[in-house]
Amino acid sequence: MLPRNVGIIGLGYVGLSLVKSLCDKGYRVLGVDIDSERVEELVGSKSPNESISSSDLKRFIGADLFHATTDPTLLKDIDTVIIAVPTPLSEDGEADYKFLVNACDLISSHLKADALLINESTSHPGTLRDLIAPIVIKSRGDRAKDIKFACSPERVNPGDVVFSHGNTPRVVSGLDNHAKERVRDFYADFVDHIFVASTPEVAEMSKLLENSFRLVNISFINEINDYCVSQGIPVREVIQAASTKPFGFMPFLPGPGVGGHCIPVDPAYLLQDAAEKGKALPLLEKALQSNRSRSSQITSFLKTELGSLKGKKVLIEGVTYKPNVTDTRETPAEPLLESLTAEGAQVHWHDSLVQNWNKSESSRVSDNKWDITLVLVLHEDSDVSELIRHSELIFDFTGKLPIDSGKVRLI
Ligand SMILES: NC(=O)c1ccc[n+]([C@@H]2O[C@H](COP(=O)([O-])OP(=O)(O)OC[C@H]3O[C@@H](n4cnc5c(N)ncnc54)[C@H](O)[C@@H]3O)[C@@H](O)[C@H]2O)c1
Repeated sequence: MLPRNVGIIGLGYVGLSLVKSLCDKGYRVLGVDIDSERVEELVGSKSPNESISSSDLKRFIGADLFHATTDPTLLKDIDTVIIAVPTPLSEDGEADYKFLVNACDLISSHLKADALLINESTSHPGTLRDLIAPIVIKSRGDRAKDIKFACSPERVNPGDVVFSHGNTPRVVSGLDNHAKERVRDFYADFVDHIFVASTPEVAEMSKLLENSFRLVNISFINEINDYCVSQGIPVREVIQAASTKPFGFMPFLPGPGVGGHCIPVDPAYLLQDAAEKGKALPLLEKALQSNRSRSSQITSFLKTELGSLKGKKVLIEGVTYKPNVTDTRETPAEPLLESLTAEGAQVHWHDSLVQNWNKSESSRVSDNKWDITLVLVLHEDSDVSELIRHSELIFDFTGKLPIDSGKVRLI
C-alpha cells in the first residue's frame, strides 16, 4: 500500500492530537513547526502536552510514521496538508492572524502541485476564500491552479477521555466541489461522521457559533449564580432541577470565568468580523465583557463578604483553564490574581499539574495556613483534604468540595 502522507503545520495541542489519530491509523505524518525547540523535543520523543504521550511519539517515530521538522521544503511530496496554528488575540484584544498568514507564506511555494490544503485553525467566515487562498495563489502563480483549498474547523477537546477525533463529527467544506469531495474522503477515513457544508463560510461560522453559544450561556449562568448566591439559593441544585426538563434546556455551570484558547477568544473574532462588516452583535459583546470582568466581580463579592482583603493570605487552587490539562492560556486565575493583589492580598497559587506560571512557582498547600482559598480548578490528583486542612475558609467554584467541613462555601 502506498504511504498515506499528511503534513501538519503547527505541532501544538491540535496538531499533535492529529498526529496521534493519523499515525494510529497508519498515516505517515510530516509535522512542520517554526519553533525549533519544540521540534527538537518531538524528535527526541518528548511530548510537550497531553495531546499525545511520549510513548506514542516514540512508537510513531520508531515505525517511521512521524517526522517533525522546521523544514517546509519536505512538504513537496505530501498530498494533504493541514494548518493548525494559533489564532489568538493581540495585546489590544484584536484577532491576530499573523501565525496563519506566516504559515501560509512559509508553505505556499513548497506544496505539491495538487495538494489538498486544509485549514483547521479557528477563524472568521471568509478566511479560506479571502485570506488563505489568495496568499497561496499569489505566491505560486500558475503553479497554484491544481491546489485544492478546504477547511475543517477543529473541535478537539484536550483531556477528554470520551470524545476524540474518531467520534467527534467533523464539519468540512472546500472552495470547489473537488476540494469538498477530497476533504470529506480524507476525514471519513478516521472520523465517524462528516457534515459537508455548502461553503467554507458555513463551516467557519459554525465553529464561531459553537463557542459563542458557550460563552453567552456561561456568562448567563454566572449572572444567575451571583443572583442565587445573594438570595441563598443553591444554584447547582437549581440547574439540576431545571435539567430534569427533557427538552429545551441545556445545563451550563457557573465558575470563575471561562478560559482557554477558544471560548473567550473565538467570539472576539466573530465580533471583529461583524464590526468590519458594519454589524453589531450586542448580546455577544456583553457576554464577552461579562467574562472579562468576572475577576473584578469575584473580588468585589469577597470584599462585601469579608471586608478588606489587605494582608490576607490567599491561595488560588488550579491555574489551568480546566481540569486535567496543563494549558494555562487565558486562565481566569490570572486576572483574579491581579485583582486580589491590587486589593493588598498576598496571593499565592498552587496547581498539581503546573510548576511554573505567571513568572512564579507553584506554592505548596502546606506552606501556609491560608486565610482564603479559592478553588478554581480541581484535577484528578488534587488533594482536597489537604486544602481543607490548610485553609480557614474556602470558596469553591467547582462544586466538588464537601460543604460539611464548615469551611467551604460555594460561589
Ligand atoms: N487547543 C484547543 O483545544 C483547540 C480546540 C479547537 C480549535 N483550536 C484552534 O486550533 C488552532 C491551533 O491551536 P493550538 O491550541 O493547537 O495552538 P498551540 O499554540 O498549542 O500550537 C500551535 C503551534 O503552531 C506553531 N506555529 C506558529 N506559527 C507557525 C508557523 N507559521 N508555521 C508553523 N508552525 C507554527 C507553534 O510553534 C505551536 O507549536 C487555533 O486556531 C485554535 O483556536 C484549538
